[in-house]
Amino acid sequence: MTVIRGATTIACDSAEEIRAAVAELLGQIESRNALKRDEVLSIVFSSTSDIHSFYPAKAAREAGFASCSLFSAQEPEIDGSLALCIRVMIFVEKNITPHHVYLRGARILRKDLSQKFNIAIDGPAGSGKSTVAKLLANDYHILYLDTGAMYRACALAALRAGVDVTDEVQVCDLMRGLSLSVVYRDGVQHTMLGEEDVSAFLRSPEVSMAASTISRHMSVRMKMVEKQREIAGKMSCVLDGRDIGTFVLPDADFKFFLTASPEVRARRRFDELTAKGEKVDFETLKQEIAARDEQDSTRAFAPLKKADDAVLVDTSDMTIDQVLGTIKRKMQEKI
Ligand code: DC
Repeated sequence: MTVIRGATTIACDSAEEIRAAVAELLGQIESRNALKRDEVLSIVFSSTSDIHSFYPAKAAREAGFASCSLFSAQEPEIDGSLALCIRVMIFVEKNITPHHVYLRGARILRKDLSQKFNIAIDGPAGSGKSTVAKLLANDYHILYLDTGAMYRACALAALRAGVDVTDEVQVCDLMRGLSLSVVYRDGVQHTMLGEEDVSAFLRSPEVSMAASTISRHMSVRMKMVEKQREIAGKMSCVLDGRDIGTFVLPDADFKFFLTASPEVRARRRFDELTAKGEKVDFETLKQEIAARDEQDSTRAFAPLKKADDAVLVDTSDMTIDQVLGTIKRKMQEKI
């Protein structure tokens, strides 16, 4: 015997929607698993507690699954669960490798079964993008690529080599011999210069400003963008940066632009640095962030900018859970 799983969502709780969604789901499970109707022993449905208007089991019978046993149950109301969702478990009288089918909004439940997708999150420093990107990556079991860390590593290499980061010719020379890579250990990004893991040296105010300056140069950007596209082309990932939605991945499946007031962003960075035991002056930090904003958004090539099709989220008065909830909701709406 084989057990096949599936799920789908409906747009609103109506008999018509349920009939159509169940017929589509069972039809796809049938075709992807090359099932014959008489091989289906039983079909068990569960639906979220916001579905009341029709039994999915009745929809299955109407769709022609008449000889197997059918059953529907309602799931408990769980905070944060996917809305208007119908799940199914099909017991089949043959031994096959099952192709589980997740459709519409339910694709999000089993990212491992669905196609590769990328999430682009852009925004200025302190807008909350890296925190939320990490949480999204964790929830969807996909990779998080911190593209800022790549520019920071270039800046660190330049500072160490005594290269003037404003001088594109000097920077270009340095870049030719630079072996920059990102590796992942237990899902955590480590940014490498050659064999050295430099992740711990990338967050200082000096490196932050130098990263912003060095990232103005087209030669630097093209080298970084090439690596970013290569990674994003191979697997599902969430990338955060300044130009992901506009330049690196203009066709990203989901695009967000996070922002927050300068005061709030400076406060977040201040708290982050002081929590690490670093001594920073709030006003100086605020000025540095403003200078970086100015430099990142006015550069000629791929500046910090919201893509026209990105969803804008002002995180000034939101908790990180609220930001995450908003992003996930928008993603579900789009699927
Ligand atoms: O996201 P971050 O603060 O770590 O980024 C550091 C700097 O790197 C930022 O001020 C501008 C640059 N950067 C960029 O130009 N493009 C990106 N995609 C990411 C970062």
